[in-house]
Amino acid sequence: MHPSRIDLADNVRKQSIAILQARLADAIDLAAQLKQAHWNVRGPRFIQLHELFDRLHGEVSTAVDDIAERIVALGGIADGRIQTAARTSSLYEYALQAAGGTAHTKAVSAVLAQFGAGLRAAIDQTAAAGDAGTADLFTELSRQADKQLWFVEAHLDGDD
Ligand SMILES: [Fe+2]
Repeated sequence: MHPSRIDLADNVRKQSIAILQARLADAIDLAAQLKQAHWNVRGPRFIQLHELFDRLHGEVSTAVDDIAERIVALGGIADGRIQTAARTSSLYEYALQAAGGTAHTKAVSAVLAQFGAGLRAAIDQTAAAGDAGTADLFTELSRQADKQLWFVEAHLDGDD
């Protein structure tokens, strides 16, 4: 850990950095999965889902940046390597053969729900460690993930 004048104890920073790093791996994986969905979705709702998945990719990419920069602000090294994300992500692997809108919507919903659950757990973990700033970041990201899940899951209901 880099030395810092920040008024958070080393052990608090260390705990937060480990929690942030785990969620960073998930976020990098999720961002790539959203592009996978954006590129490969087909069917009557193509343009709607194609654009929605790209918008979510943009939001998740911002989340990747926020999580990584919080790690560095706490004196850590943000490990944004694809190899690390692939090895440590807790998310499901994306179904390569998914084609139709419903298949992609279900695949994206599943990983968004996993991502959201990890963020929600991280709120409590970092708050318990005494790092309200990191807990606040996770709270914001968790609320965003809940909204993203709603936007995607809403496509699974209704008449069409
Ligand atoms: Fe595109």
